[in-house]
Amino acid sequence: MALRIGVPKETATGERRVATVPEAVEKLVKLGFSVAVESGAGDTADCGDDSYRAAGAEIVDGAAKLWASADIVFKVLAPTAEEVGLMHEGQTLISFIWPAQNPELMQQLAERKVTVLAIDSLPRQLSRAQKMDALTSQAGVAGYRAVIEAANAFGRFFNGQITAAGKVPPAKVFIAGAGVAGLAAIGTAVGLGAIVRANDTRAEVADQVVSLGGEFVKVDYEEEGSGGGGYAKVMSEGFQQAQREMYAKQAKEVDIIITTALIPGKPAPRLITAEMVKSMKPGSVIVDMAAERGGNCELTEPGKVVVKHGVTIVGYTDLNSRLAKQSSTLYATNLFRLSEELCKTKDGVIDVNMEDDAIRGLTVIKEGAVTWPPPPLNLPAPAAKPAAAAPAAKKGHGHGGDSAPASAKSTVITFGIAALAFWFVGANAPAEFLGHFTVFVLAVFVGYMVVWNVTPALHTPLMSVTNAISSIIAIGALVQIAPPLAAGGAERPDSWIHWLAWVAMALTAINMFGGFAVTQRMLQMFRK
Ligand code: NAI
Repeated sequence: MALRIGVPKETATGERRVATVPEAVEKLVKLGFSVAVESGAGDTADCGDDSYRAAGAEIVDGAAKLWASADIVFKVLAPTAEEVGLMHEGQTLISFIWPAQNPELMQQLAERKVTVLAIDSLPRQLSRAQKMDALTSQAGVAGYRAVIEAANAFGRFFNGQITAAGKVPPAKVFIAGAGVAGLAAIGTAVGLGAIVRANDTRAEVADQVVSLGGEFVKVDYEEEGSGGGGYAKVMSEGFQQAQREMYAKQAKEVDIIITTALIPGKPAPRLITAEMVKSMKPGSVIVDMAAERGGNCELTEPGKVVVKHGVTIVGYTDLNSRLAKQSSTLYATNLFRLSEELCKTKDGVIDVNMEDDAIRGLTVIKEGAVTWPPPPLNLPAPAAKPAAAAPAAKKGHGHGGDSAPASAKSTVITFGIAALAFWFVGANAPAEFLGHFTVFVLAVFVGYMVVWNVTPALHTPLMSVTNAISSIIAIGALVQIAPPLAAGGAERPDSWIHWLAWVAMALTAINMFGGFAVTQRMLQMFRK
């Protein structure tokens, strides 16, 4: 029987987002689900009851009725104790949970014997998971909004202008922390015409900063800042000192500072001191995105806009709610994509498949049993950020005493067998075959070596382009269709072969042009 998805109104003060939007409702209905939305749930995100109704949802009055009737509940923020009280056995909840920070909530949920998918626990490293990555979609919107808030509080243009009344220099923006939110902020500020500089402890983001049109400012101190998995680590005292000096210099030069620095599970690093604020030009602006975790700036007051030493410091912790429609639309798409993964049969029934890495990571409670934290993912180690993997690597060395010679032995055996097989083929097969066979073996080897060295993120464009190249089949078909030259064009090929060759050409043309088109589309995603 098709399951019913319920979307309650968010109850936290100031929260304006909603977990699904009418466009997503239509798609969920196509997946076989029925959707119920609490009356007024989307009002603050510009999604009225009527628009949900038109998309195929049922509008339900009151939270109690909605929670009682839903098999699956979509929410943005983690449920309150009151909302947990409305849950019933067998229900599934999909929302932000932050299990590490909320052990009490986890226990309350487990007691209700429900299944909980925490969207914040998605294994973001899996490329397959990107479409469901709500942390990224929300941080992207917040980074954009941070720049808009800065522009609002700033008394000048962002872009330089030459007008009849005089020359206006472009604003200088400094972004501290170039993660998801930081990169979105760089893109937005560059788009508005500002001169943008950015700094991050992870050196690997420098290229991304530059590709968005920013300038990466390095700290004059050698230390690797990656803590693994795309996150930062706490830096040494020496580094922090050098970083403070650099930030102090930037504070004097720039008009706007946007701070996004975050180390998971740690209080926000203090990067902007009161002294630095004092040294900024009057009318400058700081937007402290880390306000919720104590702030990257010493003078930030979470949730407020304050003016200190002539500098406006914006400490909003609800940047996503300040762009509620956009945030909700992206969040709704993330949850729809997750629903697709949960309901591959498209019949409105979900399967929380614990064998699937992405679903396993998300599922923090399964039918009342706490399944968080998940076992570590078995991923091919990315080229950068191996720091977190170091202890594991060391462990590997520990029993490497047994395994390394074993694997060397098996490689020798495999090579031996392959050499024998090759010798056998060479001794028995016709000479003509041996030539083709050698080319084939070499092609396999070269192909393998090429693909092996490509970053996993580029596998899809690579596959599509090799797909296109593999359409060399077209040449074979052309040879079949064209009459042999020696026969002066008189000898026609067998009509069967002729038509089959045409079909082969048509099919391979789809492969060829489709392959190049997909490659172009994929590569476009990496360009600005
Ligand atoms: P992220 O983890 O992708 O990026 C954080 C970046 O800070 C990383 O690139 C990291 O290397 C860098 N970093 C860490 N320590 C640093 C240091 N000492 N110096 C320089 N860079 C450092 O996180 P994301 O998703 O971009 O979020 C950024 C911040 O924005 C978080 O604090 C998050 O809680 C906050 N946020 C705030 C919202 C609001 O309404 N105010 C809304 C959404 C996110």
